[in-house]
Amino acid sequence: MGFERTFSIIKPDATRRNLTGKINAKFEEAGLRIVAQKRIHMTKEQAGKFYEVHSERPFYDELCDFMSSEPVIVQVLEGESAISKNREVMGATNPADAAPGTIRADFAESMGENSVHGSDAPETAAIEIAYFFSGIELVG
Ligand code: CMP
Repeated sequence: MGFERTFSIIKPDATRRNLTGKINAKFEEAGLRIVAQKRIHMTKEQAGKFYEVHSERPFYDELCDFMSSEPVIVQVLEGESAISKNREVMGATNPADAAPGTIRADFAESMGENSVHGSDAPETAAIEIAYFFSGIELVG
């Protein structure tokens, strides 16, 4: 583990409801530092490339439509064991299974509209960060 960086997205269901500050507060309270952050509106093609690993899944088209429907906040979080810590703070993918106090328990609307995305491993974190940010945009 050690000191890590992970990639995070605050999804359209959360930006629409003006929840970005409340979600960032949960990251910061958990000891994660936001070292890069920007608000973007992805095209469906950009969302499709980001989620390419899910391209054979039945929910892929709906996922890409949703992620390109409205602006998102893409961000890089840094800290001790940042990848697993972020996944703890997010809670389970399905909000019905998410532990109390997690972002998805408090804010997610459904399995698809689940407020946040976070990298699942160091390799994917590196790929996902590089998809949205250049090195000089990461300010630790
Ligand atoms: P995320 O961590 O962004 O990675 C893939 C996303 O697909 C996931 O969160 C969910 O929001 C979305 N999704 C929609 N339906 C499903 C499903 N049945 N199983 C897993 N993920 C799903």
